[in-house]
Order: sequence, then C-alpha cells, then structure tokens
Amino acid sequence: MTTDNRYHWPHKDLLDVTQLSREDVLHVLDLAARFREINRRPIKKVPTLKGKTVVLFFVENSTRTKTSFDVAGKRLSADTYSLARTGSSLNKGESLKDTALTLQAMGPDVIVIRHSSSGAAAFLADLLPCGIVNGGDGWHAHPTQALLDCFSLRETWGDDFAGRSLLILGDIAHSRVARSNVHLLSLLGVKVRLCAPRTLLPAGVETWPVEVFCDLRSAVRDVDAVMCLRLQLERQQAGLLPDLAEYSRRFCLGPAHLALARPDAKVLHPGPLNRGLEISPEIADAPASLVLNQVAAGVATRMAVLYLLARRDAAGEQEGNC
Ligand code: CP
Repeated sequence: MTTDNRYHWPHKDLLDVTQLSREDVLHVLDLAARFREINRRPIKKVPTLKGKTVVLFFVENSTRTKTSFDVAGKRLSADTYSLARTGSSLNKGESLKDTALTLQAMGPDVIVIRHSSSGAAAFLADLLPCGIVNGGDGWHAHPTQALLDCFSLRETWGDDFAGRSLLILGDIAHSRVARSNVHLLSLLGVKVRLCAPRTLLPAGVETWPVEVFCDLRSAVRDVDAVMCLRLQLERQQAGLLPDLAEYSRRFCLGPAHLALARPDAKVLHPGPLNRGLEISPEIADAPASLVLNQVAAGVATRMAVLYLLARRDAAGEQEGNC
C-alpha cells in the first residue's frame, strides 16, 4: 500500500474523507506510520513545523481530538493556540465569520475547527486562505477520526483491508464518525455492516454501500471488527428511544456477541464511551479492544495531517526530516 515518492498532496483543507483519493489516504497513513515511530522515541519532538502556527478552534466539547491535535502540533514544533466558545467573544454574540476573520488576521497556517453545525468547516475554508481541518462538524463528517481508525486497523491487519468486514454498531443517525468511516472503509475495500434500532438509522441509508441489520447477533456474525458508537443523547430529538435499558439489552456489545465474530476480531470505539450502554466494560477493557490504540493513532495521524496542510507551500521538498 506504500505511496509513490513523487506524490503531491493537492488539498488546501481537509473537510471530509470524500475529497480524498485512495492515493491521498495511503499517503496520510504512510506518513502517520513515520510519525508513530517518532512518538515512540524518548524525545518525541522534531523541528518539522517550527515557525508554523496552528489554532485549535473548538466551539463544541472535545477531549481526544483537541488534545491530540495540540500534542501533534507541539511534537512537530508548531506553535498551537486554543479558542473555545467558553471564554471567547462568541459568548458575547460575535459571529462565526467575524471570529474566523479575527483568527486569520493573526496569521495562522492551519485552523482546526470543531462545531455543532454541519458545514462550519467548509464555511471557514471558503472564507480564509489558511488551511482548515474539520475536527468534527455536526452529524456531517469527522475525517481525522476515520483516518485514525483506518490507521489503527492497519496496525492490526497490515495492508490486508480488501474483503474484511466491519460492523458499525449504535447511533448511526447522529454520527459523523459513521459517515466518514463508511466512505473511507469502503474506499479501502472493507465490507461495512450497520446495526442500530430503526429510529437510529439515517434517512437514505439504503443508498449507502453497506448491509443494514437491526439484530446484533446476526450483524456481528463472522465480522473482523466491530466499531461501537456513542449514543448521542445530546443530539437526539425526544422519542427516538423509548427506554435506555431496552437499548442496552439489545445493542450493547458484550462478550457473548463478540464470541460470534471472527476469533481475532477487534473492537473500536471513537470515544467518549458510555460503558454499559453501547459497549460493556468487559469488552472496553478486553485485549480485543483498540480504544486506546485509536487515541495513540490519533496523535500520529493528526501529525500527518498538520504536516501536509502546513507545508503545502513546500511542495516538492523531500519529506526526509519528518
Ligand atoms: N472521538 C472524538 O472525536 O472524541 P472527542 O469528542 O473527545 O474529541
């Protein structure tokens, strides 16, 4: 799966995985593997992005995405600055446009934005000359999550993606992680299954390149991996789920379910976890769980993304010092 040395990254922004070719994806994953090696050294810092500035503009809460972009930028020697809704003038009524123009006036190379509205990252990308990374926008997309999930699977599967099967389980309707992963996994040749109560399947799912199940025991049979999704109670309208205990009984991944998958099946979860609701504590902490591998993969993958966007003006230079 290794990419050509003459490869040139063509994107100013990373808004969704749908903009990426297979070659782009493999280039990000190859670069992330090199950064993963740096992250295992005693001194985890290289000068690659010295003098570059990365702004973490997180209008919606985050632990993993925000922290890992911050760590990623610092490990590449970029200067990183954070702005959240709380403590910013957004809370005084300043618009997204004026906030973005204000940040741009300070000369960032890359802005990573998380926002509860789908399209917020694309809005900034049209407005600003700096690189924009979508750190998750509404239900729409979470491209670096899908890239890090594929990186985690690649650490387990090697380049052997084609013909594998992966089940995405839980609140698909409200999940930007599911949308980005369905596209990216399909691009790499993985057969994707979805399992959820009918009320948590998205409108138009019949047009997605997936097999849909409402029964977990049927869905999990012989899969190579299961990706559990958080039940996003904060995004749901009332009435989609009559009873959380009933949801947990039917859709919480437990040891008896995983026993129906392939013997070496892995479990992923983007986090944060609702233990006992969509994933049992035994499975979350089992050797099959890649949850913390995903977090580590997030740093390496986001280093690759920052590198590609912040050094676009250095196209053609060797990537030897990364
Ligand atoms: N997976 C993910 O996006 O987690 P955070 O909300 O903690 O960033």
